Amino acid sequence: MICLSIESSCDETAVAIIKDKREVLANIVSTQIDIHKKYGGVVPEIASREHILHIPFVVKEALDTANISFKDIDYIGVTYGPGLVGALLVGVAYAKALAYVLDIPIVPTNHMHGHIAANYITYPNLKPPFLSLVVSGGHTNLVYVEDYTKFKMIAKTRDDAVGEAFDKVARVLGLPYPGGPEVSKLAQRGKSTYKLPKTKFENYDFSFSGIKTAVINIANKEKEKLNKEDLACSFQTTVCEELVDTTINVMKDMNIKEVALAGGVSANIYLRDLLQKKCKENKFTAYIPDLKYCTDNAAMIGVAASYNYEANKYFKIEDKLDLNAVANLKIDN
Ligand code: KG4
Ligand code: ZN
Repeated sequence: MICLSIESSCDETAVAIIKDKREVLANIVSTQIDIHKKYGGVVPEIASREHILHIPFVVKEALDTANISFKDIDYIGVTYGPGLVGALLVGVAYAKALAYVLDIPIVPTNHMHGHIAANYITYPNLKPPFLSLVVSGGHTNLVYVEDYTKFKMIAKTRDDAVGEAFDKVARVLGLPYPGGPEVSKLAQRGKSTYKLPKTKFENYDFSFSGIKTAVINIANKEKEKLNKEDLACSFQTTVCEELVDTTINVMKDMNIKEVALAGGVSANIYLRDLLQKKCKENKFTAYIPDLKYCTDNAAMIGVAASYNYEANKYFKIEDKLDLNAVANLKIDN
């Protein structure tokens, strides 16, 4: 079975072709980073317009790369949330039109389920159940993946997402958007010398606004004297320890032996290494997606869509012309 998948939830216009659920025949990502960089973050209106300009060409490139034509597609997977509503709508509208014209089913797919499904590409034998540490620009969650289409929320952030905290810290340190990779680069040249606050709740929830504010206060106080490398390193070390320690606690308490990392922040080398190390110490298994499937892409959406398709979570577009984007779509069901 061939799936054409579309992802347009934020600032990447992405289209992939997936064969038989997990095989990536094409994975094309057209990024808008350079356009948003000058504004210091994603401008939603510009993101939507850019998606409109690029989507037909990204689809064509995906088909050409996979060496197939429209008639070979069995169903269309599309991200319908969560994300920027105007950006999502471009992908959803395109997918609806294509499904209508080709008279094939459409599979609305949750962007965060896509991030988790990125692991199925890197690890062909990985099967649920497992725990997933989901870390992106908008999310920080521990999710129990009971089955391919069954998700249970274990923990969430009470304020900022970890990627958001990385991006805000980057801004304070004078680094360009997107901040996560820049903070990570700077941190590699520093030492963890600043003592930053960690949070602890009676359940497993996270919080990153306190540490973000502490970093801002230190930067404002120390001004020219500030050692940016050390502050970046202290921030990265503290948040990654908080993420990994909580994950290991949940695995011990719930007797779960496998964890899959997911979301844009899973591209962070320090986090990848720390999770791997702590899992080894506890005789747990860590699954960490290939770097190219960590940040937003459509291959992960195609894989998640394929499991939705298998679970009959699809329809003929004539039966549901009102399919819409859902900006705040939840991970669990
Ligand atoms: O998953 P993603 O591409 O988009 C969302 O669904 O949000 O995640 C983007 C987030 C941004 O906050 C970005 O700064 C962060 O992931 N990120 C990183 C790294 N690469 C991307 N954060 C820390 N270290 C990285 N290497
Ligand atoms: Zn994402």
